[in-house]
Amino acid sequence: MTEVLTQPAPSETTGPSTGEEVRTSNRPQMISSAQIARRVRRLGRRISEVYADIDTPLVMVVILKGATVFAADLLRSLSIPAELEFVRASSYPTGTSSNGRLRLAHMVEGPLVGRHVLLVEDIIDSGVTVNAVARRIRKLGAASVRLAALLDRPARRQVVVKIDFTGFVIPDRFVIGYGLDYAGLYRELPHIYALT
Ligand code: IMP
Ligand code: MG
Repeated sequence: MTEVLTQPAPSETTGPSTGEEVRTSNRPQMISSAQIARRVRRLGRRISEVYADIDTPLVMVVILKGATVFAADLLRSLSIPAELEFVRASSYPTGTSSNGRLRLAHMVEGPLVGRHVLLVEDIIDSGVTVNAVARRIRKLGAASVRLAALLDRPARRQVVVKIDFTGFVIPDRFVIGYGLDYAGLYRELPHIYALT
């Protein structure tokens, strides 16, 4: 069962400027590292069951950079063989990302023909990023493509996304920590916090 966070943490007047400020302030955690660890272990067990009978190792395709922390923990919670690949998606500078146009700055290295692919993403917001990546992966001939997302924030969805393995459904707040950044910062925080 996906955990749905219905009680957003109370918002604060000004955002912090450094990770240290977040750590030392009394800003309430939205999701603690213990909650995350428990949930990730469960997802790992579930994913291992779903893929128990495939005859090639699972290919985890991690969407850089935010999903790396989640992916590292998820990988170690699997009890099936898995390979690791990375993609880097960046939107076109003209703001066309809302039309689903994304540039893939880095693509997986190995062939994916006939392989079972698990996309790993930190957060699904509009859904544009993961949709574009999934489309490209399917074109490479994958036997199946599923999606694991640590966070699902449905409030701003623009395209329909099927999330096969969800960590937490969160309210409409910008979040940081556990790999998620604001302007490149805060990825190192072990807990997830709401910035807004
Ligand atoms: P989407 O294409 O709108 O679904 O955006 C997903 C991407 O935006 C994620 O891979 C994140 O890197 C980034 N993102 C969206 N919301 C947040 C957030 O609250 N915190 C940090 N990164 C976010
Ligand atoms: Mg991302």
